Amino acid sequence: MKIRVEEYNPNRKTPMLCGFVIEDSDKILGLSKIDSKIAHHVEQALIDMCGKIGKIAVIPTGITAQRILLAGIGKKEKFTNDTIRYVSGKIAQKAKELKVKEFSIILPPNAVADPISSVSQIVEGCKMASYRFEKYKSEKEHIVPELVIISPKSDKITKAIRTAEIVAGGSVFAKSIANLPPNECTPTTLANFARDMAKKNKMKFTVISKKELKSKGFGGITAVGQGSKNEPKMIIIEHNKGRTTEKPIVLVGKAVTFDTGGISLKPGEKMDEMKFDKCGGCTVLGIMKSVSELKLPINVVGIVPSVENMPGGESYRPGDIIKLYSGKTAEILNTDAEGRLILADALSYGEKHYSPRAIIDFATLTGACIIALGTNVAAMISSNDRLKQKILDASKRTTEELWELPLNDDYMDMIKSDVADMKNVGIGRAAGTITAAAFLRNAINDTPWVHIDIAGVAWTQVATKEKPYNPKGATGFGVRLILEYLQNL
Ligand code: BES
Ligand code: MN
Ligand code: ZN
Repeated sequence: MKIRVEEYNPNRKTPMLCGFVIEDSDKILGLSKIDSKIAHHVEQALIDMCGKIGKIAVIPTGITAQRILLAGIGKKEKFTNDTIRYVSGKIAQKAKELKVKEFSIILPPNAVADPISSVSQIVEGCKMASYRFEKYKSEKEHIVPELVIISPKSDKITKAIRTAEIVAGGSVFAKSIANLPPNECTPTTLANFARDMAKKNKMKFTVISKKELKSKGFGGITAVGQGSKNEPKMIIIEHNKGRTTEKPIVLVGKAVTFDTGGISLKPGEKMDEMKFDKCGGCTVLGIMKSVSELKLPINVVGIVPSVENMPGGESYRPGDIIKLYSGKTAEILNTDAEGRLILADALSYGEKHYSPRAIIDFATLTGACIIALGTNVAAMISSNDRLKQKILDASKRTTEELWELPLNDDYMDMIKSDVADMKNVGIGRAAGTITAAAFLRNAINDTPWVHIDIAGVAWTQVATKEKPYNPKGATGFGVRLILEYLQNL
């Protein structure tokens, strides 16, 4: 999507001039004068649509602005950090529907909303809403119109636009890989996509393959991956733009390219959705792409353990006891609890090799997370209050919602095994999201750690609240969140 800024000029020709309208107000924000030839049309349209959030009205005009689009943003007291993003997404959808080649959005004035936040939200909302997964459609319907932002020009605005473009780009990149079908996206092809991205952005790229994973003691990744002819990989990308002495932030993401459950086979219903079990890894790749494009002056490492969880003659089984990268042993009681096994290896590796100042992991880890929090809020579990607070602050700004769950020693006890150090399931279905996190907690020592279970939010499910910038499929949840956190370090 092409984006540019222009100062307001009533004589400029444009196919569609778009402005925001507060609920029950009689004006378009940022537009003081309206051509007298059409003023009464606009007045009537304002009354009819009454500015309710997400409502759109298009008025054909026959003047220099061929159409005027009114976009309701609701009551001012109800504004959130998502209002402008959400409504901008609606505008972008309308622009696409009308097949205009360009649409201009008037930045709301200072007094109504912070211009930097608004402009970022406009760019993110429009760019993310313009993405469609249509790689496998013979007929591509998609022409993306150009976005013009009507605002006084300044370096700050230009920079905010560029930043938001990169952030939205990371999210779109994450979605576009996460949406790929499991026959096309295996651990090997995922590693290839990651390599291409890393090379393009001049980041250090390493991949650890099956033999080496086994010989180096990655017992979790090896066990889960052994049932598939698509071999496991561990992807590592490094962005080193901080001081050499500065400890990095390590990001870890679960990338199970397809989760059948293995020998503990899942039921058939909705099993196709388990192509999205790689979303945590895709989120990490999206973040890394943007981190490098933003040239953030910090050190960040992305680690993505990737496997396909399949049943077969060589699969790991319930009853197996394996040794993880940490040296701890785990009794397998359910091969469908595979995510924690591959993540444990990756977390231990990340802590051991990088002595990071923080580790943050993303995973579509537990169905229990959907039962607990639904499909619009992700679960967060942390070992460090300071880190946790920073992530929560970022979440307030990006509106990717998190809710914290507790992790005390009683939960840690729930995954103790009779025959090994741990077992890979808790007690029955009790606190399934927390017992999974308890397993991960065992993989690291004292490094500040935040775990984010994105099982409910990583792709659009039946109960997902519709948002124009989250079209059907993967959502890229977490990309904007972590970029917000990293930019404020
Ligand atoms: N990838 C699934 C979790 C999942 C299921 C995410 C449905 C989103 C939608 C994970 O590997 C899994 O199967 N977890 C099991 C764990 C259980 C066997 C302890 C689960 O949640 O049922
Ligand atoms: Mn599973
Ligand atoms: Zn899984």
